[in-house]
Formats: sequence, structure tokens, C-alpha cells
Amino acid sequence: MTREEKERFQRRVLGIGAVTDSQYGFLNRTVCADLFDVLPGLPSQCCDLVFADPPYNLTKNFNGVAFKKGTTEQYATWLRCWVPEMKRLLKPTGSIYLCGDWRSSAALQTVLEESFLLRNRITWEREKGRGAKNNWKNNLEDIWFATVSDDYVFHVDRVMLKRKVIAPYRNDVGRPKDWDETDSGRFRMTCPSNLWTDISVPFWSMPENTDHPTQKPEKLLAKLILASTDPGAVVFDPFLGSGTTSVVARKLGRNYLGVEIDEEYCCLAEKRLERAETDRDIQGYSNGVFWERNTLSDQKEKKGKPDDRFGGPCTPSRKTEQPFLFER
Ligand SMILES: C[S@@+](CC[C@H](N)C(=O)[O-])C[C@H]1O[C@@H](n2cnc3c(N)ncnc32)[C@H](O)[C@@H]1O
Repeated sequence: MTREEKERFQRRVLGIGAVTDSQYGFLNRTVCADLFDVLPGLPSQCCDLVFADPPYNLTKNFNGVAFKKGTTEQYATWLRCWVPEMKRLLKPTGSIYLCGDWRSSAALQTVLEESFLLRNRITWEREKGRGAKNNWKNNLEDIWFATVSDDYVFHVDRVMLKRKVIAPYRNDVGRPKDWDETDSGRFRMTCPSNLWTDISVPFWSMPENTDHPTQKPEKLLAKLILASTDPGAVVFDPFLGSGTTSVVARKLGRNYLGVEIDEEYCCLAEKRLERAETDRDIQGYSNGVFWERNTLSDQKEKKGKPDDRFGGPCTPSRKTEQPFLFER
């Protein structure tokens, strides 16, 4: 990022003052502040979906902000400082997705269940991790799914997975059974399970890649946002990092709000948001379909016209210069 870019993006990011001053609109914005300072200023029932990718229970340094590994109980105590607040921010029909690795997962389940109705645990095979001589390579992450009530938004039809057919069964008259014969091969649309093997971590050659050390893939966010919100919904990310949640929300015609403590990361998010104004691509999701890993050539052949079903403009958008004011 050039110095000019950084200065421009810094001006777009909101500080804590904007949140405590009700004159400001903070929808479709990035707030650069400590989540714990921001939370009291956010109004109840202001969002439809929370995606939270907090520091895991690991010793890790995020650009100078260090997080220290503790016991499961200590981690649970830290989670209890903000997870119940997510319930206050969510509408009664809202959902939350909470990420962690195997070590953090037990605390995530316990604390989520204290405030929410637990629905599922998605396990994502990241396909990247350091091999170990005296242990199994750590190759998974969990994404816990919970809702405020039994009345919640969920659209499985928007997140079907396009899979290559291995056993191409035909019916009595020789027609494909539950699969399609296309120019680029034989495919079947399948219901997504809670085991996700079709998403890679962003690697250096992907346009979405940034220097953030734990960036989530846009495809992963696209699935969650499409399944659990309708266009125009508000998506909140309390640990925004490089901005993946806001960027995907923007690309899919949802509103967003993100909080991130580190200014560099906030600028990365703003840079990606700027690009999202003209580039709606989400790698691995095209023409309304989620593709398996390593099918880029099939996807390119099929590209043609863009899918506008979910990519309408956000309302209100930055372009209209009408910042949204949360009702207090
Ligand atoms: C696991 S990363 C999130 C990565 C993000 N999902 C992405 O795709 O880039 C966690 C982020 O939380 C931020 N963070 C840690 N403590 C915070 C706090 N108290 N308030 C706001 N952000 C915080 C870190 O700086 C880090 O960028």
C-alpha cells in the first residue's frame, strides 16, 4: 500500500468517537478501535448476522497486539466478556458464526450455548498447516453456528455445491439421474454438509490475498452470508482483520459494520472495499454456484454473464452519501 493510499484509507476509517456520538452513521463503515470500547455504543438489535473470527486460544501477535494462550477456562472467561453482547446486537431472527481451532472449540461451544441456540459445528479443512514430528498436522478450523431463536433465516438453495459426478447413474431411458451433462463435464448439485473441503486459504496469487496473518477466504464468508441473510441485511464483524466479512457483504448486496483494533488492518479492509466497488468476483463462487476446489478452468469456461441475483447495490450505500443512523 502506498503512503497516499494509506492516508486516504485512514480518513475513511471511523474512530471510537464516531460510535459514541449518535450523529454519526456507522453502517457500511470500518471502526478502528478496541471492541470492548465500541460495544456499549452499539444499539440493540442492529444486525442480522454476526461473523466473529476472534484471536484463538493461541499465543499470537497481530501487528503488535499480542494474544496469550491460556487455559480453556480462561479463554471461556474472555469469550464471556463479548459473546453475550452479540445476542443483544442481533435481531430476534439473527444468527452468529463463531470461529476457532480444535483447542478453542470446547470453550466456544460452552459459551455460545449460554446465550444462543446451538445449530451446528462446521468443520473446515483448510488444506494448509505446518506438519509436526510428534503430533498430527493441524488442518482444520471449526465454525460454530447458533441462532437467537427458532425463527431464523436459512437458505440452503443459495449455497448448493457443484460436484463432479463420480458414478454417473442413468435412469431406465438412459437419462442422467440427479446430475447434468454439460460441455465441461458431468456435475451434480449437492446439499452442503457441515464438513467443508472445497475452500482453500487465500494464497499469494489470489487477488483477495493480503498481508494479514489469519485472513479468511471470501468463499467461506459468501456461503455463510448467502445462507443466513437476505439482501439488505446488516452483517457485523467484531474482529474484522483484513475486512473479508465487509468485502463479501458488499459484493453480495448486504450492509456491513466491522471493528478492528489495528489501523494497518483497517486500511487493508478499506483498500479491499474500494476494489469491491468495481470487482464483485468471489473466487470459487460464480453464476450462483459454489464450485469444488481445483475447478478453476471449469468455472472460467462457464463464466459468461455475471450473476446479479444477489449482487444488488447496498442500501444505503457510500455512494449516496447518506450514512445510515442506527435508531437508539
Ligand atoms: C483472527 S483475526 C480476523 C481475521 C479476519 N477474519 C480476516 O479475514 O482478515 C482477529 C483480528 O482481531 C483483531 N483484534 C484483536 N483484539 C481486538 C479487539 N479487542 N478489538 C478489535 N479487534 C481486535 C486483531 O487485530 C485481528 O486482526
